[in-house]
Amino acid sequence: MKIVFATANVGKLREASEILGSGFELVTPAELGITEDIEETGSTLEENSAIKAEYIHSRTGMDCFADDTGLEVDCLGGAPGVHSARYATEGHDFQANMDKLLSEMAGHPGEPRTARFRSVVTLIWKGEKHVFEGSFEGSIAEKKAGSGGFGYDPVFVPDLCPDHSVAELPESFKNEHSHRGKALRAMALWLSEHR
Ligand code: IMP
Repeated sequence: MKIVFATANVGKLREASEILGSGFELVTPAELGITEDIEETGSTLEENSAIKAEYIHSRTGMDCFADDTGLEVDCLGGAPGVHSARYATEGHDFQANMDKLLSEMAGHPGEPRTARFRSVVTLIWKGEKHVFEGSFEGSIAEKKAGSGGFGYDPVFVPDLCPDHSVAELPESFKNEHSHRGKALRAMALWLSEHR
């Protein structure tokens, strides 16, 4: 099944290819000549994932999906949340985002470091919109560890494997248990029942 994944993030694309398997041929906007940044002007993950999917659908007319993901840290009142990508700078700077997160958390000594990733996937299939969600529970480490994954993975310690950051764990573990893994598998199940 040929479907556009509205992302320019190579880490997300690699994960989605693994999670969805060979039954899906994922096409990126860049491969279709769409290279502009899609402005994420929504105030929720739901809105931003819909904005990205609707933009790509309006440009291509093709079946497509987009995800929007946020890291919600309890002692920071759910921040960085929908602002996760541009937490420290406008530039999707993963290292700067983690540095800012660790320094904000240093201002909350003794408080629980619990957190979760939440992904919302918007699928536009035959012109109709469908929404899928997944979350991944864990906590924020005191310092970065590991080199796998992307984004906040070096500081996110999953409850299911509390001695390691996601960036230290095999990609197969992340894909099986992660926010995006759950949301994309729910989408794949829906497609298998409705195509
Ligand atoms: P967006 O969905 O691309 O807007 O992602 C928001 C931010 O969350 C980006 O800075 C990503 O790096 C980060 N992010 C999204 N998914 C993950 C993940 O699976 N692990 C770690 N960080 C992530």
